[in-house]
Amino acid sequence: MNREQISMIAHTDHPIKSPLDDDSVRQLLERGLPRGDERVLDLGCGGGEWLLRALATRPHLHAEGVDVSEDALAQARRAAGDLGVQERLVLHHRKAEDFASPQSFDLVLSVGATHAFGGLLPTLAAARKHLAPGGRVLIGEGFWDRAPSREAVEMLGDFTDLATTMDRVVADGWTPVHGHVSTRRELDDYEWACWGSLASWALDHEADPDSAYVLATATTRRSEWLRVYRDTWGFLSLVLRRTPDFP
Ligand SMILES: C[S@@+](CC[C@H](N)C(=O)[O-])C[C@H]1O[C@@H](n2cnc3c(N)ncnc32)[C@H](O)[C@@H]1O
Repeated sequence: MNREQISMIAHTDHPIKSPLDDDSVRQLLERGLPRGDERVLDLGCGGGEWLLRALATRPHLHAEGVDVSEDALAQARRAAGDLGVQERLVLHHRKAEDFASPQSFDLVLSVGATHAFGGLLPTLAAARKHLAPGGRVLIGEGFWDRAPSREAVEMLGDFTDLATTMDRVVADGWTPVHGHVSTRRELDDYEWACWGSLASWALDHEADPDSAYVLATATTRRSEWLRVYRDTWGFLSLVLRRTPDFP
């Protein structure tokens, strides 16, 4: 079983692949899509859950998603068909950093995928290239809520604290117009859902040759979360607009 298949099972009960609950996702989309007829691009869309929710509630919206995972895009395509929104969704199997489009977008989304661009600011630079005048960016990124251990940095990456993260975004020419810091409950619910789904799959497929490996993965990942980063890692989602060049 490869990483993508493991990820697919882990997200069975939490299709948004980030520590955000349904209300937070809805609110962030509302702030990012004030009109309802926008063109939206998701860089690192995974199974397309953000785009599907946006399309299902906004009949005049058009969306495009980019991801390197064929399996995740196939899942997005199937779900779009089930929801009847497939004619307003275009999916690109490509590296997000290589994606180019002749059209610009009113909202560029990238949640939990900044590693694809090498961090927060490079992701914002990439998003900016796709942004229509007056457009918005909806970005989701980790931060350190407390000083991390070296092991946590090695495992999750090199983030900064919340205030420094905001300072960097503002210094880069962006104005936050909405923000959400994932609650303890959202963070915990996400991890319990992922490792619980994996463990359940292993118990439900005891005869499968991958069962023991999947259960061991669930146990290891849950332990890493509890021992290495639960007390220090946080998740921030922002809706951003470009700051004007005031004279
Ligand atoms: C944590 S998931 C987030 C998915 C989605 N944004 C969400 O919040 O549900 C990260 C996604 O980034 C994708 N990804 C990783 N590197 C990528 C790259 N270079 N270009 C495009 N997608 C990439 C992965 O395949 C995965 O679907």
